Amino acid sequence: MAWNLDGRVALITGGASGIGAELARQLSARGMRLGLIDIDADGLDGIVPGAETAVADVRDAEALTAAIDNLARRLGGIDVAVANAGIASGGPLRLVAPETVEETIDVNLLGVWRTARAAMPHVLARRGHMLLVASAAAVLPAAGLGAYSASKAGVEALGRSMRVELRPHGVTVSVGYYLFLATPMVAAGEDSPIFGATKAKLPNPIAKTWPLEPAIARTVTSIEKRSRSVVHPPFLRGLMAVRGLLDNSLLDRATSGTIPRMEEAFSAEAERVGAAAAARAVGGR
Ligand SMILES: NC(=O)c1ccc[n+]([C@@H]2O[C@H](COP(=O)([O-])OP(=O)(O)OC[C@H]3O[C@@H](n4cnc5c(N)ncnc54)[C@H](O)[C@@H]3O)[C@@H](O)[C@H]2O)c1
Repeated sequence: MAWNLDGRVALITGGASGIGAELARQLSARGMRLGLIDIDADGLDGIVPGAETAVADVRDAEALTAAIDNLARRLGGIDVAVANAGIASGGPLRLVAPETVEETIDVNLLGVWRTARAAMPHVLARRGHMLLVASAAAVLPAAGLGAYSASKAGVEALGRSMRVELRPHGVTVSVGYYLFLATPMVAAGEDSPIFGATKAKLPNPIAKTWPLEPAIARTVTSIEKRSRSVVHPPFLRGLMAVRGLLDNSLLDRATSGTIPRMEEAFSAEAERVGAAAAARAVGGR
Protein backbone atom coordinates (compact mmCIF):
# COMPACT_ATOMS: atom_id res chain seq x y z
CA MET A 1 0.00 0.00 0.00
CA ALA A 2 3.05 2.33 0.43
CA TRP A 3 3.54 5.05 -2.14
CA ASN A 4 6.28 6.71 -4.11
CA LEU A 5 5.52 10.41 -3.51
CA ASP A 6 7.57 11.69 -6.44
CA GLY A 7 5.36 13.41 -9.05
CA ARG A 8 2.15 13.11 -7.02
CA VAL A 9 -0.02 16.09 -6.09
CA ALA A 10 -0.86 17.30 -2.57
CA LEU A 11 -3.47 19.89 -1.65
CA ILE A 12 -2.96 21.61 1.73
CA THR A 13 -5.26 24.11 3.43
CA GLY A 14 -3.61 26.54 5.84
CA GLY A 15 -0.48 26.27 3.68
CA ALA A 16 0.78 29.79 4.43
CA SER A 17 2.12 29.17 7.95
CA GLY A 18 3.28 26.66 10.55
CA ILE A 19 2.45 22.99 9.97
CA GLY A 20 0.93 23.52 6.49
CA ALA A 21 3.90 25.53 5.20
CA GLU A 22 6.51 23.10 6.59
CA LEU A 23 4.58 20.12 5.20
CA ALA A 24 4.47 21.84 1.80
CA ARG A 25 8.26 22.35 1.91
CA GLN A 26 9.02 18.77 2.92
CA LEU A 27 6.59 17.19 0.42
CA SER A 28 8.05 19.38 -2.31
CA ALA A 29 11.55 18.19 -1.37
CA ARG A 30 10.21 14.65 -1.98
CA GLY A 31 9.14 15.58 -5.52
CA MET A 32 5.47 16.27 -4.88
CA ARG A 33 3.61 19.09 -6.63
CA LEU A 34 1.61 21.36 -4.36
CA GLY A 35 -1.69 23.19 -4.31
CA LEU A 36 -1.84 25.54 -1.32
CA ILE A 37 -4.96 27.25 0.02
CA ASP A 38 -5.06 29.88 2.72
CA ILE A 39 -7.06 32.93 3.78
CA ASP A 40 -3.75 34.82 4.02
CA ALA A 41 -2.83 35.81 0.44
CA ASP A 42 0.55 37.38 1.32
CA GLY A 43 1.56 34.40 3.46
CA LEU A 44 1.17 32.02 0.49
CA ASP A 45 3.87 33.87 -1.47
CA GLY A 46 7.10 31.93 -1.81
CA ILE A 47 6.31 29.05 0.59
CA VAL A 48 7.22 26.59 -2.18
CA PRO A 49 8.52 27.92 -5.51
CA GLY A 50 6.28 26.64 -8.30
CA ALA A 51 3.35 25.72 -6.03
CA GLU A 52 -0.13 26.55 -7.29
CA THR A 53 -1.95 28.72 -4.76
CA ALA A 54 -5.48 29.92 -4.11
CA VAL A 55 -6.92 32.28 -1.54
CA ALA A 56 -10.05 30.91 0.12
CA ASP A 57 -11.73 30.85 3.50
CA VAL A 58 -12.61 27.35 4.73
CA ARG A 59 -15.77 28.87 6.24
CA ASP A 60 -17.06 29.60 2.72
CA ALA A 61 -18.05 26.25 1.16
CA GLU A 62 -18.69 27.66 -2.31
CA ALA A 63 -15.42 29.60 -2.56
CA LEU A 64 -13.45 26.71 -1.07
CA THR A 65 -14.94 24.15 -3.48
CA ALA A 66 -14.22 26.46 -6.44
CA ALA A 67 -10.61 26.89 -5.25
CA ILE A 68 -10.10 23.12 -4.82
CA ASP A 69 -11.64 22.33 -8.22
CA ASN A 70 -9.50 25.03 -9.82
CA LEU A 71 -6.28 23.76 -8.22
CA ALA A 72 -7.15 20.19 -9.23
CA ARG A 73 -7.55 21.36 -12.84
CA ARG A 74 -4.25 23.26 -12.77
CA LEU A 75 -2.38 20.33 -11.20
CA GLY A 76 -4.10 17.54 -13.15
CA GLY A 77 -5.75 15.93 -10.10
CA ILE A 78 -5.21 15.48 -6.36
CA ASP A 79 -3.57 12.42 -4.76
CA VAL A 80 -3.35 13.74 -1.19
CA ALA A 81 -5.66 16.25 0.52
CA VAL A 82 -4.56 17.72 3.84
CA ALA A 83 -7.31 19.55 5.78
CA ASN A 84 -5.04 21.54 8.05
CA ALA A 85 -6.28 25.15 8.27
CA GLY A 86 -7.25 25.97 11.82
CA ILE A 87 -7.36 28.56 14.54
CA ALA A 88 -6.83 28.56 18.28
CA SER A 89 -8.96 30.46 20.72
CA GLY A 90 -8.64 30.50 24.47
CA GLY A 91 -10.30 31.45 27.68
CA PRO A 92 -12.63 29.96 30.28
CA LEU A 93 -15.91 28.81 28.71
CA ARG A 94 -17.81 30.67 31.47
CA LEU A 95 -16.41 33.96 30.12
CA VAL A 96 -15.72 33.57 26.38
CA ALA A 97 -18.09 35.19 23.89
CA PRO A 98 -20.56 32.78 22.21
CA GLU A 99 -19.11 33.71 18.80
CA THR A 100 -15.69 32.43 19.92
CA VAL A 101 -16.99 28.88 20.32
CA GLU A 102 -18.97 29.09 17.08
CA GLU A 103 -16.06 30.53 15.06
CA THR A 104 -13.63 27.91 16.40
CA ILE A 105 -15.96 25.06 15.45
CA ASP A 106 -16.79 26.72 12.11
CA VAL A 107 -13.13 26.93 11.05
CA ASN A 108 -11.65 23.86 12.73
CA LEU A 109 -14.42 21.27 12.40
CA LEU A 110 -16.74 22.46 9.64
CA GLY A 111 -13.75 23.84 7.69
CA VAL A 112 -12.14 20.39 7.74
CA TRP A 113 -15.44 18.81 6.68
CA ARG A 114 -15.90 21.31 3.82
CA THR A 115 -12.33 20.65 2.65
CA ALA A 116 -12.72 16.87 2.81
CA ARG A 117 -16.06 17.01 1.00
CA ALA A 118 -14.77 19.24 -1.80
CA ALA A 119 -11.55 17.25 -2.22
CA MET A 120 -13.31 13.86 -2.08
CA PRO A 121 -14.20 13.42 -5.79
CA HIS A 122 -10.62 14.27 -6.78
CA VAL A 123 -9.05 11.97 -4.18
CA LEU A 124 -11.51 9.16 -5.04
CA ALA A 125 -10.52 9.46 -8.72
CA ARG A 126 -6.88 8.82 -7.69
CA ARG A 127 -7.65 6.26 -4.95
CA GLY A 128 -5.63 8.67 -2.84
CA HIS A 129 -5.08 9.70 0.76
CA MET A 130 -6.58 12.31 3.10
CA LEU A 131 -5.10 13.72 6.28
CA LEU A 132 -7.41 15.53 8.68
CA VAL A 133 -5.37 17.56 11.16
CA ALA A 134 -6.87 17.18 14.64
CA SER A 135 -4.69 17.63 17.74
CA ALA A 136 -3.67 16.00 21.01
CA ALA A 137 -6.49 18.20 22.35
CA ALA A 138 -8.93 15.75 20.73
CA VAL A 139 -7.75 13.18 23.26
CA LEU A 140 -6.60 15.41 26.14
CA PRO A 141 -8.98 18.38 26.26
CA ALA A 142 -7.42 21.26 28.16
CA ALA A 143 -8.79 23.92 30.51
CA GLY A 144 -8.72 27.26 28.69
CA LEU A 145 -8.95 25.50 25.32
CA GLY A 146 -12.53 24.22 25.56
CA ALA A 147 -13.79 25.38 22.16
CA TYR A 148 -10.56 24.27 20.48
CA SER A 149 -10.61 20.85 22.18
CA ALA A 150 -14.27 20.29 21.21
CA SER A 151 -13.55 21.19 17.57
CA LYS A 152 -10.60 18.78 17.43
CA ALA A 153 -12.55 15.92 19.03
CA GLY A 154 -15.03 16.46 16.19
CA VAL A 155 -12.26 16.30 13.58
CA GLU A 156 -11.07 13.01 15.05
CA ALA A 157 -14.57 11.50 14.91
CA LEU A 158 -15.06 12.70 11.34
CA GLY A 159 -11.72 11.24 10.22
CA ARG A 160 -12.23 7.90 11.93
CA SER A 161 -15.66 7.49 10.32
CA MET A 162 -14.40 8.53 6.88
CA ARG A 163 -11.47 6.12 7.22
CA VAL A 164 -13.83 3.14 7.34
CA GLU A 165 -16.28 4.48 4.76
CA LEU A 166 -13.68 5.33 2.09
CA ARG A 167 -11.54 2.23 2.48
CA PRO A 168 -13.69 0.13 0.07
CA HIS A 169 -13.19 2.92 -2.48
CA GLY A 170 -9.39 2.64 -2.25
CA VAL A 171 -8.97 5.92 -0.33
CA THR A 172 -7.00 5.96 2.93
CA VAL A 173 -7.82 8.52 5.63
CA SER A 174 -5.52 9.59 8.44
CA VAL A 175 -6.04 11.72 11.55
CA GLY A 176 -3.20 13.96 12.78
CA TYR A 177 -2.53 14.26 16.52
CA TYR A 178 0.22 16.65 17.61
CA LEU A 179 1.17 18.00 21.01
CA PHE A 180 2.42 21.61 21.10
CA LEU A 181 4.67 22.26 18.06
CA ALA A 182 6.71 25.40 17.48
CA THR A 183 4.45 27.41 15.16
CA PRO A 184 3.13 31.00 15.31
CA MET A 185 -0.14 29.67 16.80
CA VAL A 186 1.59 28.07 19.79
CA ALA A 187 4.01 30.97 20.30
CA ALA A 188 0.99 33.27 20.75
CA GLY A 189 -0.57 30.92 23.32
CA GLU A 190 2.65 30.72 25.34
CA ASP A 191 2.97 34.50 25.44
CA SER A 192 -0.68 34.97 26.35
CA PRO A 193 -1.56 36.07 29.89
CA ILE A 194 -4.70 33.92 29.54
CA PHE A 195 -3.28 30.51 28.55
CA GLY A 196 0.49 30.78 29.17
CA ALA A 197 0.37 29.93 32.90
CA THR A 198 -2.00 26.97 32.36
CA LYS A 199 0.21 25.53 29.60
CA ALA A 200 3.24 25.80 31.88
CA LYS A 201 1.40 23.80 34.59
CA LEU A 202 0.63 20.83 32.32
CA PRO A 203 2.72 17.81 33.30
CA ASN A 204 6.04 17.77 31.51
CA PRO A 205 6.50 16.58 28.69
CA ILE A 206 2.93 17.53 27.72
CA ALA A 207 3.74 21.20 28.47
CA LYS A 208 6.77 21.14 26.18
CA THR A 209 6.79 22.80 22.75
CA TRP A 210 8.35 20.40 20.25
CA PRO A 211 10.37 21.39 17.17
CA LEU A 212 8.30 21.47 13.99
CA GLU A 213 10.59 19.75 11.46
CA PRO A 214 10.67 16.24 13.04
CA ALA A 215 6.88 16.29 13.51
CA ILE A 216 6.44 17.10 9.85
CA ALA A 217 9.05 14.53 8.77
CA ARG A 218 6.92 11.94 10.62
CA THR A 219 3.85 13.32 8.82
CA VAL A 220 5.54 12.89 5.42
CA THR A 221 6.37 9.26 6.31
CA SER A 222 2.75 8.71 7.37
CA ILE A 223 1.54 9.96 3.98
CA GLU A 224 4.07 7.77 2.19
CA LYS A 225 2.88 4.73 4.16
CA ARG A 226 -0.75 5.82 3.91
CA SER A 227 -0.99 5.36 7.68
CA ARG A 228 -4.28 5.61 9.59
CA SER A 229 -2.87 8.29 11.89
CA VAL A 230 0.15 10.46 12.56
CA VAL A 231 1.08 11.00 16.20
CA HIS A 232 3.87 13.28 17.40
CA PRO A 233 5.69 13.07 19.75
CA PRO A 234 5.36 9.25 19.69
CA PHE A 235 4.77 8.85 23.46
CA LEU A 236 1.36 10.44 22.85
CA ARG A 237 0.32 7.10 21.32
CA GLY A 238 0.72 5.52 24.78
CA LEU A 239 -1.54 8.14 26.36
CA MET A 240 -4.08 7.58 23.58
CA ALA A 241 -4.05 3.83 24.26
CA VAL A 242 -5.00 4.32 27.92
CA ARG A 243 -7.22 7.33 27.41
CA GLY A 244 -10.27 5.60 28.87
CA LEU A 245 -8.39 4.79 32.07
CA LEU A 246 -6.69 8.16 32.25
CA ASP A 247 -9.92 10.14 31.87
CA ASN A 248 -7.76 13.23 31.84
CA SER A 249 -7.62 13.53 35.65
CA LEU A 250 -3.86 14.01 35.45
CA LEU A 251 -4.25 17.18 33.40
CA ASP A 252 -7.31 18.35 35.32
CA ARG A 253 -5.47 18.19 38.62
CA ALA A 254 -2.33 19.81 37.25
CA THR A 255 -4.12 22.84 35.80
CA SER A 256 -7.12 23.41 38.05
CA GLY A 257 -5.11 25.75 40.32
CA THR A 258 -4.52 28.09 37.38
CA ILE A 259 -8.24 28.75 36.70
CA PRO A 260 -8.75 31.77 39.00
CA ARG A 261 -5.67 33.41 37.43
CA MET A 262 -6.92 32.54 33.93
CA GLU A 263 -10.33 34.04 34.70
CA GLU A 264 -8.74 37.20 36.06
CA ALA A 265 -6.42 37.56 33.03
CA PHE A 266 -9.28 36.88 30.61
CA SER A 267 -11.57 39.42 32.28
CA ALA A 268 -8.82 42.07 32.19
CA GLU A 269 -8.13 41.43 28.48
CA ALA A 270 -11.86 41.33 27.67
CA GLU A 271 -12.27 44.68 29.42
CA ARG A 272 -9.42 46.10 27.34
CA VAL A 273 -10.10 44.66 23.84
CA GLY A 274 -13.47 42.82 24.08
CA ALA A 275 -14.11 39.13 24.85
CA ALA A 276 -13.89 37.91 21.24
CA ALA A 277 -10.54 39.64 20.60
CA ALA A 278 -9.14 38.40 23.93
CA ALA A 279 -9.93 34.77 22.96
CA ARG A 280 -8.51 35.22 19.43
CA ALA A 281 -5.22 36.62 20.72
CA VAL A 282 -4.42 33.27 22.40
CA GLY A 283 -4.13 31.78 18.89
CA GLY A 284 -2.11 34.69 17.50
CA ARG A 285 -4.85 36.40 15.52
N1 LIG B 1 1.01 23.99 16.38
C1 LIG B 1 0.55 23.02 17.13
O1 LIG B 1 1.09 22.72 18.19
C2 LIG B 1 -0.65 22.22 16.73
C3 LIG B 1 -0.92 21.06 17.45
C4 LIG B 1 -2.01 20.28 17.09
C5 LIG B 1 -2.79 20.66 16.02
N2 LIG B 1 -2.51 21.81 15.34
C6 LIG B 1 -3.38 22.15 14.23
O2 LIG B 1 -2.59 22.27 13.06
C7 LIG B 1 -3.19 23.20 12.15
C8 LIG B 1 -2.16 24.25 11.75
O3 LIG B 1 -1.75 24.94 12.92
P1 LIG B 1 -0.42 25.83 12.99
O4 LIG B 1 0.13 25.63 14.34
O5 LIG B 1 0.40 25.56 11.79
O6 LIG B 1 -1.07 27.29 12.98
P2 LIG B 1 -0.69 28.61 12.15
O7 LIG B 1 -1.51 29.68 12.76
O8 LIG B 1 0.78 28.76 12.05
O9 LIG B 1 -1.26 28.27 10.68
C9 LIG B 1 -2.64 28.13 10.41
C10 LIG B 1 -2.91 28.56 8.98
O10 LIG B 1 -4.31 28.37 8.72
C11 LIG B 1 -4.79 29.54 8.03
N3 LIG B 1 -6.21 29.76 8.29
C12 LIG B 1 -6.79 30.13 9.46
N4 LIG B 1 -8.10 30.29 9.30
C13 LIG B 1 -8.38 30.02 8.00
C14 LIG B 1 -9.58 30.01 7.22
N5 LIG B 1 -10.75 30.36 7.76
N6 LIG B 1 -9.50 29.68 5.93
C15 LIG B 1 -8.30 29.35 5.37
N7 LIG B 1 -7.14 29.35 6.04
C16 LIG B 1 -7.17 29.68 7.35
C17 LIG B 1 -3.96 30.69 8.61
O11 LIG B 1 -3.97 31.83 7.78
C18 LIG B 1 -2.59 30.04 8.74
O12 LIG B 1 -1.83 30.20 7.56
C19 LIG B 1 -4.40 23.77 12.90
O13 LIG B 1 -5.56 23.06 12.52
C20 LIG B 1 -4.06 23.50 14.35
O14 LIG B 1 -5.20 23.46 15.15
C21 LIG B 1 -1.46 22.59 15.67
